[in-house]
Amino acid sequence: MDNKNERGFSSNIGAIIAAAGGAVGLGNIWRFPYVVGQNGGAAFLLMYVLFILLLGIPVMLSEIIIGRRSQRNLVGAFRTLAPKHKAWMGVGVLGLIVAFIIYSFYSVVAGWTLNYIVLSCNGQLMGKNPAEITQMFSSFTQSSFWPLLYQIVFIGITAIVVILGVKKGIEKSTTILMPLLLLLIIVMCIRSISLPGAEKGIKFLFKADFSKLNADSFLTALGQAFFSLSIGMGALITYGSYIRKEDNLFTTSLCIAGADTLVAILSGIAIFPAVFAFGLNPTSGPSLVYEVLPNVFNSMHYGQLFAIVFFILLAIAALTSTISLLEVVVLWEIEELKWSRRKAAILSSLCIFLIGIGCTLSFGPLQGFKIFDLTIFEFFDQLTAVYLLPIGALLFTIFIGWYLPKTDVYDELSNGGKLKVRYFKYYYFIVRYIAPIALLIVIITNIIFD
Ligand code: TRP
Repeated sequence: MDNKNERGFSSNIGAIIAAAGGAVGLGNIWRFPYVVGQNGGAAFLLMYVLFILLLGIPVMLSEIIIGRRSQRNLVGAFRTLAPKHKAWMGVGVLGLIVAFIIYSFYSVVAGWTLNYIVLSCNGQLMGKNPAEITQMFSSFTQSSFWPLLYQIVFIGITAIVVILGVKKGIEKSTTILMPLLLLLIIVMCIRSISLPGAEKGIKFLFKADFSKLNADSFLTALGQAFFSLSIGMGALITYGSYIRKEDNLFTTSLCIAGADTLVAILSGIAIFPAVFAFGLNPTSGPSLVYEVLPNVFNSMHYGQLFAIVFFILLAIAALTSTISLLEVVVLWEIEELKWSRRKAAILSSLCIFLIGIGCTLSFGPLQGFKIFDLTIFEFFDQLTAVYLLPIGALLFTIFIGWYLPKTDVYDELSNGGKLKVRYFKYYYFIVRYIAPIALLIVIITNIIFD
């Protein structure tokens, strides 16, 4: 178990990489391109970036403050900082529930990456026409055995890393994997923009056409920004509690958000030029990288190699994120339930798999089982991105902006007065007024229009 004095990450860069690893994930490489595709491209991207700057970074900073100040898990953090108002612990419990929900549907798509690594390595992805590729994707996702097997393998790998601990497992694995991920994605970008006809994809991504926007894309952009930055659930309360007392929280959160946004944009550059170059449809939805990209690989030189690189990239991104999801639950079990790290990781993983079975089967045998007209998988995805993450974010900003004394917030951001925090006024104004009001509007709009 982590000794209190040795709690957490060993350096600032280690903390940034681990947290950026948690943020950068399927949300950036699988979800981001398809929502950009469905919402018309550049104008959506612009809105997404605005949300990150205006709401994303302040919410992220708020979570990190709660974590580092309390030095506790999601629930313990609120007990420590609000000892007289136990109700705040409910916010921590909500975060834990959200972690279970996200991990259970996330692990389905994470499992698919393993299947696609195998398919691309043994050449089965190559030499197929678009209809055959679509057929392969649907018969794989609709079956039960293989998707479930890959899902549990992925959950198992995640559990092993988490059992190894914060420094030796999480920090070490992410410091190896993240640079590799950056390298692989840059390779993919270069390949994509050097294809003949790539300009159309670049234009789609960067030349804004505001007529394509509507209220719905506005809300989708916010949900995507929150999901991608891993905020609104308290993941960064847990990672925040591992950040050293001497590190600068503002620059740390800027680096995390910057890395996340960079990888999202790079994924767009890796995917859209290739999609347009081969005359494929950018609006195909969640199957974009699994159905459209294999066609792209099929029609390019060394396609098989690029397919292998791409799906490994996707698996790495997913793994560093599932690690962060599991760690949130595990730290709570270690500190509150006094379980050992191993017991916590194994039992939570099993529980997540049990819920995850429903998500996997919702592509096959349980396809007809609908909640509000959505399959279990779609329901969990929408429920978290559209409702629970904004609600969590609202509660975190109220906690920082209205509950915690202003002097405490200042003290934490300035490391006890050692750092200059010239931005404090703006930050405080955003978390106290702008963010809660904006989030409230978003949540109410969602409830009314859905
Ligand atoms: N941000 C990750 C991604 O983009 C997913 C994720 C990990 C997440 N931890 C989270 C999302 C916590 C919300 C909250 O793939």
